Amino acid sequence: MATKEATWAYRDEFGDGFGRTYFRRFGDEVVSSVGLGTYLGEPTDAVDDRYRAVIRTALESGCNVIDTAINYRHQRSERAVGEALAESEVEREAVLVATKGGFVPFDGERPEDPGAYVTSEYVDTGVLSVDDLAMGSHALAPGFIDDQFERSRENLAIDAIDLYYLHNPETQLRVRSREEVYDLVERAFERLEERRADGELRYYGVATWEALRVHEEHASYLSLPEIVSRARAAAKSVGNASTGFRAIQLPFNVQMADAFTVEAHEGRDGSESALWFAQNAGLSAFTSASIGQGGLADRVPEEVGSLLAGDSPVQRAINFARSAPGVTSALVGTSREAHVEENVAAGRFDPLGAETFDSVFE
Ligand SMILES: NC(=O)c1ccc[n+]([C@@H]2O[C@H](COP(=O)([O-])OP(=O)(O)OC[C@H]3O[C@@H](n4cnc5c(N)ncnc54)[C@H](OP(=O)(O)O)[C@@H]3O)[C@@H](O)[C@H]2O)c1
Repeated sequence: MATKEATWAYRDEFGDGFGRTYFRRFGDEVVSSVGLGTYLGEPTDAVDDRYRAVIRTALESGCNVIDTAINYRHQRSERAVGEALAESEVEREAVLVATKGGFVPFDGERPEDPGAYVTSEYVDTGVLSVDDLAMGSHALAPGFIDDQFERSRENLAIDAIDLYYLHNPETQLRVRSREEVYDLVERAFERLEERRADGELRYYGVATWEALRVHEEHASYLSLPEIVSRARAAAKSVGNASTGFRAIQLPFNVQMADAFTVEAHEGRDGSESALWFAQNAGLSAFTSASIGQGGLADRVPEEVGSLLAGDSPVQRAINFARSAPGVTSALVGTSREAHVEENVAAGRFDPLGAETFDSVFE
């Protein structure tokens, strides 16, 4: 598990030359505001090798946030993270390792008959019932989350996971009502609270694509305050003194700013955006698609780009995401060493101040 001592020592060792607020508090720990994502890329041995090298380079150049999910590249990304952590000279306790469960993963490659694979691996074995599935590929049933958590621990080859997200919980809204989805989320949270009590998990959260950045009437909407209240109830029913619900993950970049602009979550100041709600509620936000899944690599819109510091459009795009309220770390996916070096080096520049950031939206 990441520890206070090791993450602060990491900051002392690798923190030279970074700009203002590059390292940020996450619980008692301190983490880099540029994180490494492992979503994209072909499920091949060659890309596994590249990811292993990239993760080691990230860790050894000042990035101690690694984000993955069991279904990414059919479990290959989680396994690459585990191998890179074991090979790196950076100690495991200095790194925030985050993963996710929800999408039924394949094992190394896409099977010829995906439906038959899901049936034999999960339904016939009693881990899932057909009714648990949305789109034939997503489930949050508590027993399934237990199973996935265990498989992730094995893939990552670590005793404890620092941050575990329910992955795109809004997918369940395709097959059940919002109230039923909240109930399902609460029961899955109870399992995660139990893992916390057993010392196998530090914090948990939800990683979403649409749920938190759309209006209430949207079919994919989930209320962040309701999710927080379900987490509190889960902690209480398990007997934990406080909840481990600590983080949200959602897309945010220069061209997808709804996490900051769509006010759909009832907070202490009325309706708030997901990022403001997170900031006010003491939650950490981790941004996905921080460079628009590669779309901002060559060009950041001039009116914003001119305000941002950085040697390249990618660095300016990353620094935009790092500047938003509530953001602990901007996740950027890459399987190339030159790219990870460029991305982490974005942190050598200061993020925007609050007033300049706000001025972008005026
Ligand atoms: N719903 C969810 O929970 C969710 C959804 C999406 C993403 N995520 C997480 O968030 C992370 C970040 O999002 P993302 O990977 O989808 O999108 P992203 O970080 O915005 O963009 C990744 C893409 O940009 C390219 N790239 C990275 N650095 C570059 C550079 N310096 N110059 C040029 N191209 C560069 C990468 O290709 P190369 O490999 O060629 O560098 C990759 O194709 C993911 O990896 C994942 O961990 C979560």
